[in-house]
Amino acid sequence: GKDIDKAIESWKNGYPILLYDSSNRESEIDMVYHASKVTPESIYKLRNEAGGLICFATSWNIAKELGLIWGDELIAKIPNLKPLTEKLLFYKDRPAFTIWVNHVNVRTGISDNDRALTIRELYKTIKLFVEDKRNEAIKKFVEEFQAPGHVPLLAARNLKERKGHTELSIYLSLLAKMEPATTFAEMLDFGVSLSLEKAEKYAKKMGYVLISGKEVLEACEGEKMCW
Ligand code: 5RP
Ligand code: CA
Ligand code: ZN
Repeated sequence: GKDIDKAIESWKNGYPILLYDSSNRESEIDMVYHASKVTPESIYKLRNEAGGLICFATSWNIAKELGLIWGDELIAKIPNLKPLTEKLLFYKDRPAFTIWVNHVNVRTGISDNDRALTIRELYKTIKLFVEDKRNEAIKKFVEEFQAPGHVPLLAARNLKERKGHTELSIYLSLLAKMEPATTFAEMLDFGVSLSLEKAEKYAKKMGYVLISGKEVLEACEGEKMCW
C-alpha cells in the first residue's frame, strides 16, 4: 500500500506516524516513533501532542531471550494479587506489558532526557540481538537497567494472535526492515481518546502519516510476513 510506504519513509526520516488500531478494539490513535530515532524532543512531543503512556515495544521473541516475563504472569505469582490478573479490559486482549525499567544513568527517570536515554539504550540492546550478539545483549540488559522504572517494556505477540498498537508497530518495523523496537503514546483529547476524524485533520495539519491496523495487516499478508 502507498500509505504504508509513506509511513516507513517518515520513520526513516525520524518523524512519528499516527497509528489507528481498529473499531474492533481500542479505537485509539497512537503517535509512534521507530525507537532508533527517539531523542528528548520526541519524548516532549509524545507528552504534549499525544499525552498517553510512553511505552517501548519489542518482539516477544527478543523479550523472552532477555529473560523477561509477561507482567500478568509475574503478578499472578503473588497469591493475593492473582485475581487482579484474571480481569481483562472490554476488548479482551491480554496486556502487552512485561516490566518497567530505567537506564542506570538516569536521575529520576522521568525527564525527557531520562526517558530518551532509557529508550536509546533499550534500542541498542535490541540492536545487539538483531546483530546476533545475544550474550552481549543480555549482559547489557542485566547490568545497565534498573526495575521497576519509568519506561514500560511491551512485547509483541504474533499479529494473528493480537492486533494491538504493540504488534502493529513491531510488524511495521519488520516491513521497514528496521529493528523491532518502537516507542509510542496514545493521543488524548481533553479527557477522551482522540477520534479518527480529528486525527485525520491533525495529521494533515502537521504533515504526519496516519495509517490503520488494516493497512499494516494487508501489507504483512502481501509480504507473507505475518503468518
Ligand atoms: C499502553 C497501552 C496502549 O494501548 C498501547 O497502544 C499499547 O497497547 P496495545 O498493544 O494494547 O494497543 O495499553 O499504554
Ligand atoms: Ca492497550
Ligand atoms: Zn493501544
